[in-house]
This record gives sequence, C-alpha cells and structure tokens, in this order.
Amino acid sequence: MSLAVSGLGKALGGRALFADLSLEMAAGEFVAVMGESGTGKSTLLNLIAGLEMPDAGRVSLGEQSLAGLDDAALTRWRRQALGFVFQAFHILPHLDVRDNVALPLRLNGRTNAEARAAAQAMLDQVGLGARGASAPGELSGGELQRVAIARALVHRPALVLADEPTGNLDPDNAARVLALLAEQVRVHGAMCLMVTHSAQAAAIADRVLLLAGGRLQRA
Ligand SMILES: Nc1ncnc2c1ncn2[C@@H]1O[C@H](COP(=O)(O)OP(=O)(O)O)[C@@H](O)[C@H]1O
Ligand SMILES: [Mg+2]
Repeated sequence: MSLAVSGLGKALGGRALFADLSLEMAAGEFVAVMGESGTGKSTLLNLIAGLEMPDAGRVSLGEQSLAGLDDAALTRWRRQALGFVFQAFHILPHLDVRDNVALPLRLNGRTNAEARAAAQAMLDQVGLGARGASAPGELSGGELQRVAIARALVHRPALVLADEPTGNLDPDNAARVLALLAEQVRVHGAMCLMVTHSAQAAAIADRVLLLAGGRLQRA
C-alpha cells in the first residue's frame, strides 16, 4: 500500500494551517515530521487517519481516496490497516492494560484467547510483560506511552501514525519503542509517519520532513 496526500488544505480556529500540502509514502518507508508546536502536525495525522476532514485536497491509500469511503468502510480500514499512537495515548481506563492492547484484535474478530496472547507478546516487547493485569491508572506516563505503542502495533498495521511516541520516554525506552516501529516498517513492510521533536527519534527515519509555513520540506 502507498499513501498519497495532495493539495491538502485545512483551517482551524479561523487560521489556515496548510493550503496545499503534499506527501507521498511508499510501503516500507519510515518518515519523520518535525516542526514547531502549533504548525499542524497532529492535525495532519488526524487528516490522514480520516478522523478529521480536509477543507481541500485528498488523502489516498493506494488507488482509494479516503473521501470515497463511507463511514463503515473507513472504520474497517482503520481497524485493519491503521495503527495510531496518539499524543494523549487514549488508553481506556476501565480495561486492564492487556485488554487495552488486545482491543484492535478483538475489533477485528479474533477470539479473546488469541487477542490476549498476542497482546501479552507485544507487552513483553515494550517491557511491560508484568503489567498486563494492571489498571491504566496505576501506570506512569512513560508506561502508558508504551501501552499505546503496543496497541498500535499488535494487529500489524500497514500504516502507523505516531504522534511524538517517545515524548515521555527515557533514552532506553525510547530506543526500544523506535526499534519496534522500525521493525514494523523493515520486517513487515509497513509505512510509518512519526511526528517527533527528538533528534534520536528522527535519526531512525528514512526521510525527515519539516512542517513550516503550511508546507512539508526536507529537513
Ligand atoms: N479543534 C480545534 N479547534 C480550533 N483550533 C484547533 C483545534 N485543534 C487544533 N487547533 C489549533 O490548530 C493548530 C495546530 O494544532 P496541532 O495540529 O495540534 O499542532 P501541532 O501538533 O503541530 O502542535 C494550533 O494552533 C491549535 O491550537
Ligand atoms: Mg501535536
């Protein structure tokens, strides 16, 4: 699968974030996006995920434009092909850590036993193998960030959108998370678009782009 963003326009709060933004990504590519706070990096990820609608332009996955998908098709695409690491984690407080990670697999129709086994394996990989039965409220910010990464990767998505995925992590855990994102790209042929302020994180990407003045440029 490839991703093509063309002529994207979006205004928020009466201010144009971008008027003509373009981005192309191929399967197996890892792209980092940097840029000052407020330039629209999180908005760009939301537009690519179909969580927000652009004012102009289009987002296409392969030949398929997101605008051409109805709600059900968009939901199905998100569940199967997309892993999203949100800046604010969005971990569900009433599910334990393992069930949070298992959720994408449950939504894709896998049995509870299969989903929990795969979730446990992902938790082991992010260094939280012993925390599966914990409530999210018992975890630190850095631990929740790693739960969010595990949940975004557990169903082996073709497209990973990650919003500052190492922002709350110490260097060792940041390296561990970046290695998992890179593995999803290099071993499983996914695309990863990662917003980051970290030079350590950007260094793992094939391309580093800067969002400034409503355009994506090579950094
Ligand atoms: N729902 C919204 N309504 C109005 N303004 C918003 C909304 N969401 C974000 N913004 C504004 O849009 C701009 C870009 O936000 P965002 O995409 O979160 O930037 P970044 O992730 O680069 O820091 C910011 O100025 C922010 O205040
Ligand atoms: Mg942001």
